[in-house]
Amino acid sequence: MEQYLPHFHLRGKLAAVTGATKGIGKAISTAFAEAGADVLLISRSESDLNRVKEELKQYGGNIYTISGDVQHYKAIIEKIEEKRIGASIDIWVNNAGINIRSRAEEVTEDEWEVIVNTNMKAAFFLTQYAAKQMKDKGYGKIINISSVAGHVALRTGVVYGMTKAALIQMTKTLALEWGKDGIRINAIGPWYFTTSLTEKLLKDEDYVNEIIHQTPLKRIGKLNELTGTAVFLASEASDYITGQTIFVDGGMTIYGF
Ligand SMILES: NC(=O)c1ccc[n+]([C@@H]2O[C@H](COP(=O)([O-])OP(=O)(O)OC[C@H]3O[C@@H](n4cnc5c(N)ncnc54)[C@H](OP(=O)(O)O)[C@@H]3O)[C@@H](O)[C@H]2O)c1
Repeated sequence: MEQYLPHFHLRGKLAAVTGATKGIGKAISTAFAEAGADVLLISRSESDLNRVKEELKQYGGNIYTISGDVQHYKAIIEKIEEKRIGASIDIWVNNAGINIRSRAEEVTEDEWEVIVNTNMKAAFFLTQYAAKQMKDKGYGKIINISSVAGHVALRTGVVYGMTKAALIQMTKTLALEWGKDGIRINAIGPWYFTTSLTEKLLKDEDYVNEIIHQTPLKRIGKLNELTGTAVFLASEASDYITGQTIFVDGGMTIYGF
């Protein structure tokens, strides 16, 4: 009899996640480990990496760590090569991202460079590396963590929104180029989740009320309400989906006015 329940698990897969020690990246890494994957954690702080590695060991998979700033993506690629795990990467998540909220007329070149290099340039060149590994196997999954700010206009800073829109476009164009190679590339567009990136903003009651007012589900998201989308996009259950952005946003982006 034909089976219709697809494989939602990640057993036998190696998943790399940038920005894996806090917030959304840590939540996704944990969900991947729970789903049976081996996980490669990438972020700048060695001590945070070791702490998260210890936490994830309980799920039984291999947990690797690489410390480095994604802006220096060549050094990160070298470290992956030194560990000889590049060819084993099945899933790559571009999650590391930052924001500096300046008014457009006050954005400096330094701010531009750090936001664009972290959110966009590193994501592109690390994806290029990951895809090379996946092409040899004829199969791979890439997930870009974009944002609602990449789809609609928000007062989150123009450069941040530009980089997040770029990730959505990169997702579509690379899906077109790499579909024939078995590489699926999709994006997740979160609305507000409480993490170290947003916690200061989300302490402002008026701001939170404004967010809730704009959100059909009338609340901010919980990290374990986003991780299911990441596991789905990483798993074989989503094998016929590519080039898409799924907004995990409590319905925020459905408004037409
Ligand atoms: N939170 C939200 O509401 C929200 C909404 C929409 C989109 N997003 C997106 O989701 C992603 C994660 O955000 P988050 O809220 O989880 O942020 P977060 O809590 O600040 O965590 C960011 C993670 O990335 C790492 N990181 C930051 N810069 C890095 C760099 N240059 N190189 C390597 N690692 C770096 C951090 O660790 P180290 O500092 O130790 O490197 C940390 O593990 C970002 O792309 C963000 O734009 C978040």
